[in-house]
Amino acid sequence: MDGIVNPKVTDYIQKLGGFPELKGIEDYARVNYVPIVLKDAARLLAFQVAQMKPERILELGTAIGYSAILMALYSEARIVTIEREQNMKDQAEENIRSFNLEERIEVVLSECTAFLRDTKDSYDFIFMDAGKSHYREYFDLSLPKLRKGGTILCDNVLYKGLVVNETAERKHRTNVVKLQEFLEYVHSRNDLMVSLLSVGDGMLLIRRKDNNE
Ligand SMILES: C[S@@+](CC[C@H](N)C(=O)[O-])C[C@H]1O[C@@H](n2cnc3c(N)ncnc32)[C@H](O)[C@@H]1O
Repeated sequence: MDGIVNPKVTDYIQKLGGFPELKGIEDYARVNYVPIVLKDAARLLAFQVAQMKPERILELGTAIGYSAILMALYSEARIVTIEREQNMKDQAEENIRSFNLEERIEVVLSECTAFLRDTKDSYDFIFMDAGKSHYREYFDLSLPKLRKGGTILCDNVLYKGLVVNETAERKHRTNVVKLQEFLEYVHSRNDLMVSLLSVGDGMLLIRRKDNNE
């Protein structure tokens, strides 16, 4: 299985266009096999931050800074983004400087869980795009850091469509099982509003219900 929806539909949506200003980073990512958010998922991400107007964004998983730069271009937020690989952090910072966004985007070299345990800050929007088998852990640590009315957006939750299978190939099994458990968990919680979208590789929107919802 290649994707989570009909490949022709996916191709059509991808061809409708990305972000011309970010084409250089998109091309670099493709040639160098750096995983960045897919084009249709990037559109949703940009739309979400433009509409929500968050003041503070936390991103888990920077890679070369593509999605952090995108979120900065489509909002006025200050962004903290977490990356554990030094070479990724260096490339992200170079890309961020090339957009003159270094005052608004801080790349932190850390394991996501260590950062989430230590930080005293809170955020309006949290974008999860790091280790897929750790989403439950990231979520449990992130929720107390989410401001009232805030949103968590998780990427790759349908994992190339593999989460719909009862069994997965050995190399994908941990990610698939952990993602299935995570999806069932968030859907079982009555205090959360969740929306699972078959966009990109599967995107999950989560917010805490208000008291009267
Ligand atoms: C899918 S890429 C992020 C792509 C980026 N959000 C974008 O769309 O431009 C995931 C990144 O998370 C980093 N990562 C994976 N597990 C991590 C962890 N436990 N802590 C910190 N970074 C992690 C990887 O090194 C990788 O660069």
